Amino acid sequence: PAPGWSIDADVVVVGSGVAGLTAALRCTAAGLRTVVVTKARLDDGSTRWAQGGIAAALGEGDTPEQHLDDTLVAGAGLCDEEAVRLLVTEGPDAVRRLIETGARFDTDASGTIELTREGGHHRRRIAHAGGDATGAEISRALVDAVRDRAVRTIENALVLDLLTDSEGRTAGVTLHVMGEGQHDGVGAVHAPAVVLATGGMGQVFSATTNPAVSTGDGVALALRAGAEVSDLEFVQFHPTVLFLGPDAEGQQPLVSEAVRGEGAHLVDADGVRFMVGQHELAELAPRDIVAKGIMRRMREQGARHMYLDARHFGAAMWESRFPTILAACRAHGIDPVTQPVPVAPAAHYASGGVRTDLHGRTTVPGLYACGEVACTGVHGANRLASNSLLEGLVFAERIADDIAASPSRAGAPVAHPAPRPLPLLDPAARARVQHVMTAGAGVLRSAASLAEAADALDAVHAEALNDAGKAAEPGVESWETTNLLCVARVLVAAARRREETRGCHWREDRPDRDDTAWRRHLVVRLGPDRA
Ligand code: SIN
Repeated sequence: PAPGWSIDADVVVVGSGVAGLTAALRCTAAGLRTVVVTKARLDDGSTRWAQGGIAAALGEGDTPEQHLDDTLVAGAGLCDEEAVRLLVTEGPDAVRRLIETGARFDTDASGTIELTREGGHHRRRIAHAGGDATGAEISRALVDAVRDRAVRTIENALVLDLLTDSEGRTAGVTLHVMGEGQHDGVGAVHAPAVVLATGGMGQVFSATTNPAVSTGDGVALALRAGAEVSDLEFVQFHPTVLFLGPDAEGQQPLVSEAVRGEGAHLVDADGVRFMVGQHELAELAPRDIVAKGIMRRMREQGARHMYLDARHFGAAMWESRFPTILAACRAHGIDPVTQPVPVAPAAHYASGGVRTDLHGRTTVPGLYACGEVACTGVHGANRLASNSLLEGLVFAERIADDIAASPSRAGAPVAHPAPRPLPLLDPAARARVQHVMTAGAGVLRSAASLAEAADALDAVHAEALNDAGKAAEPGVESWETTNLLCVARVLVAAARRREETRGCHWREDRPDRDDTAWRRHLVVRLGPDRA
């Protein structure tokens, strides 16, 4: 569709979680004309839902080197060590700057930040806020700062496609905006730098901890723009998601790893702590190992879930330390003070994404990516708990510094290229994509299940294209369906190719890690038809 309105800027940031707003604030501070566009409201992304916290070597006796070691072990041989080193060394100061921006973390009586533990961390290293509402506090502080500093924002703006000039350089984005007055309908923000901070793609599965907005828009846009995408097969399943029944769909309530960090036990229906003896850290093993431990036990016992038992915390601790989780459990008729909480794994985090260098640059000049949409190399095959908010902070700052240091950026004349047509899919395909992905490419995969998923997605694609003419007006749901299907197909293709089990990619037919053949990344770049 042809843009009906347009704005010129130095940089457009797409997304408003920790990564997007940090980038926007720092670009604005550097004097760049910055526009933030976001699909729903400013605080509707995944950041707001983060519970456990943000990892950084802030505690006495802890060091970036120890944080690095834990991150590399969790990443199962596929982390980029240089990227991790930047993350852990720049992380503590980035958290301090976040506090200066206004985020209030939980402290003890002396004002020292309280730190908890989560899976894969050998130390107390996780700063938290409001007990278990860390993301909500970070989001509040950043949204307040964006408003105080009058950063230009457009809400309800779904990004459609990247605009590039005749030399293939970034020239802005097209957007579909709804209900935002002068910027209604399809329009464009023209800018020589675009920062993708669109978050994850959990909605590609039928049950996920991710909010409804996490539909892989940034990865799909990057694929259509010819950027490299890497490691999409590594979808992390969070081990302890409140089990609401076998057919529960959409966003599911998370039960933070911090609950285990404070001493909760994972038990089966007989009350047996099945993680003990499976790993030296038992319930606090890296996330992929705990998710597999739970799945194995569920299969052995024909159970649909396991239990998280933290009755020994008592009411006072539950109320002060985990008020969000307590309320969510009680809203579903479970009282963790008196009952073990039923839990099962659900899709949680995309460890892969749009491939970047250490400054967040993608392979398309002028296009940057940070936060969950990016693959900076820090997560490898399995992200370490609570490294994601930190990654969003650290790499967003690096991107803003890179843009500000590029002499051609600020004030440069902006190209206004015509957008390419985008094939639009029937929104009815969305639920089918989600069911296919959960059945064939979920926590447990095999060559057969993935082949079935690939065939089914091809069929959905063909049908949706045939039916596209019958679809209602182009709208957010149709664009999102286009994006979900695009990333689902690439994800399944990568999972089929990786014939081993590593990190959060678990192939039943290839149960071992194969460092000879597979200690490498699967990088995808779509060809010119890029549908
Ligand atoms: C949690 O609180 O368990 C989530 C932490 C994370 O995903 O890093």
